[in-house]
Amino acid sequence: MAGMRSPLTHQLQRLGCRCGAVGVRNLSQTSANQNRNSDSKGFISPNSQAYSSARSSSVVHDYSLAKEKSRQVVSFYNQTAIDAAASKPSVRLTPATLLYTGKTPDGNHLLRSAQYLHKELPVRVAHRIAEFRGLPFIVGCNPTILQVHELYIRAFQMLSEFPQIKNHETEHRYCQMVKGLLDDHKDVVTHLAEGFRESKKHMKDENMIHHFLDRTLTSRLGIRMLAEHHLSLHQDMGDFIGIICTKMTLRKVIEKWAEFAREQCEMRYGFTPKVHITGHTGAMFPYIMQPLDYMLPELIKNALRATVESHLDTPHNLPDVVITIANSDMDFIIRISDRGGGISHNIINKVFQYHFTTAQDSTDPRVTGGTFGALTNTNNGPTAGPLCGFGFGLPVSKAYAEYLGGSLVLQSMQGYGTDLYLRLRHIDGKHESFRI
Ligand SMILES: Nc1ncnc2c1ncn2[C@@H]1O[C@H](COP(=O)(O)OP(=O)(O)O)[C@@H](O)[C@H]1O
Ligand SMILES: [Mg+2]
Repeated sequence: MAGMRSPLTHQLQRLGCRCGAVGVRNLSQTSANQNRNSDSKGFISPNSQAYSSARSSSVVHDYSLAKEKSRQVVSFYNQTAIDAAASKPSVRLTPATLLYTGKTPDGNHLLRSAQYLHKELPVRVAHRIAEFRGLPFIVGCNPTILQVHELYIRAFQMLSEFPQIKNHETEHRYCQMVKGLLDDHKDVVTHLAEGFRESKKHMKDENMIHHFLDRTLTSRLGIRMLAEHHLSLHQDMGDFIGIICTKMTLRKVIEKWAEFAREQCEMRYGFTPKVHITGHTGAMFPYIMQPLDYMLPELIKNALRATVESHLDTPHNLPDVVITIANSDMDFIIRISDRGGGISHNIINKVFQYHFTTAQDSTDPRVTGGTFGALTNTNNGPTAGPLCGFGFGLPVSKAYAEYLGGSLVLQSMQGYGTDLYLRLRHIDGKHESFRI
């Protein structure tokens, strides 16, 4: 956390405010009061209530310090530029545009791609900042959420102040900056999950937070895909054009994440079911790995966990998790079937809510691992690879699937198992597509 302390937090903390938004408000109130108690020359009237306290030079000093700091806060926000950018619409591209934009030998395609990002990223980041500002006051004050908000403000500043990209040298510097920003923002999902968990008790309207997270996380996915696409255009990797794998064998991607999830499961319980892949196992088509790299491990982990936890008496005889691939002209579907007992009627409507989890519900030491398990099952966040616990796997996967023009649907056979259908659109440009 300490590493995330930004200039804004720093300034506000030096002003003695625990949290930025409160700090800004307190400052403006202080100055409003001062104005009310001042005469036309700006001096504090001897009759005013504030007079006696204002006699102390330290108060006067604090006031001018506060005024000075307040100016810094305002200039850091660069509100006018953010407002101007936030009022512009975002220009979203189809994956086919990314796929078929040709390479030029002189590298002109890199300049054009960077020029698009140079225009587009500040607009998208400004939209996010506008949404942070629209959060309920008490939620926006949460230090973790505030830190993410500040990360976006800092990103806006860097992106919008970068000079026009007219040659390869500037384009190279732009890439370095974008790389740095991608790295600075890599833990944003974890921080938002923590921040909203902390401030959950203050939220009256759960729907509002749900939509905020949906939009923030999908927009983040879009921004990262565009940025990584541009950076990858510099590399010559056989089957890739930027981030698009032109010959993706879906089975191989599923196998990779099934193996990963099985390792997590084995580490947690000492047992893991096998994963059997069936259907159109030879299907190969162009697609983007990034969203699959988030969704597949989350969905497979859920199926493995349910299977183990519903077969605690027969851990050596676990039913397989079966993943079926169906490929059609328009889309492809991944069905994940487990025999983990299904999702009971009383929680089925909640599993797509952010933060909903049954990870802490069990008291069976075979699930919790007893005292030793409690010490070792550290939960590092929704993207860091724990088996479960943040309640982000299903809602984020659903938001991503819908952003990509698809869907995530769940069928629970209570007492038996669960079928999950992840449906995603092809990106080859033959049918109408989503936009990034
Ligand atoms: N295949 C499944 N079988 C049974 N329950 C499931 C399955 N998938 C998800 N769930 C339920 O939905 C909840 C939310 O899942 P998720 O969003 O991935 O969060 P987490 O895994 O962190 O708990 C889980 O805690 C679990 O109770
Ligand atoms: Mg999960």
